[in-house]
Amino acid sequence: MDQETFSAVDRFIGETIVSEDEALKGALEAAEAAGLPAIQVSPPQGKLLQLLVRLAGARKVLEFGTLGGYSAILMARGLPEDGRLITLEAKAEYAEVARQSFEKAGVGDRIEVRVGPALEALPALEAEGAGPFDLVFIDADKVNTPNYFTWALDHTRAGGLIVADNVVREGSLADPAGDEAAQALRRLHEMLRDEPRVSATTIQTVGVKGYDGFLVALVEGA
Ligand code: SAH
Ligand code: DHB
Ligand code: MG
Repeated sequence: MDQETFSAVDRFIGETIVSEDEALKGALEAAEAAGLPAIQVSPPQGKLLQLLVRLAGARKVLEFGTLGGYSAILMARGLPEDGRLITLEAKAEYAEVARQSFEKAGVGDRIEVRVGPALEALPALEAEGAGPFDLVFIDADKVNTPNYFTWALDHTRAGGLIVADNVVREGSLADPAGDEAAQALRRLHEMLRDEPRVSATTIQTVGVKGYDGFLVALVEGA
């Protein structure tokens, strides 16, 4: 098996059960035209996020890391009419690209983008009582994934989900001498070993984005 096969399978999935409409394609084109890196979730993973939003019966979703808004559009489409998604993005120019794509996709009224380092946005969310969230998707700077997860755990309702992208990173999760992000993601897993408030798993993935994986945690009742 090689990367070409993994990509071909993702393409086939995209031609069959995970087709993208014009608004999603438009969001990717706008991101590319603006020079954003093409590091959004793969179409199959994006569809899974949408299904998880629906399965959780989510009305409030929080995302760390907006980029051009691809994953946010998919999740917002899984929300009911009165559902809301807040997405946090460090770069103002990325946030602006995303906002335009949200309007074009018809989800502009359901999504709020906040600009700035995500950690700095959290006290305001807390003060406003923006939570508790039904689903939190963590997909920003990987070294902070454990910090975002810790906050998310305190602000997600029982029965809600916390999903963290890019936790495997070509297998570096298994390397005790890996880079700073790898150390942080190992620490997150070790933290969850002793955390009774969640039941979690990590699924390794191959596809258009190479070899990686994501963590899904169900928040248990009190
Ligand atoms: N969720 C997006 C992809 C996000 S890529 C999708 O699947 O469509 C990661 C994003 O996190 C980038 O846009 C990057 O600018 C942003 N980011 C990096 N560090 C951040 C930080 N400290 N706070 C908020 N966003 C950050
Ligand atoms: C990067 C970030 C992501 O969220 C991702 O899915 C892939 C790569 C990155 O920062 O390189
Ligand atoms: Mg990611």
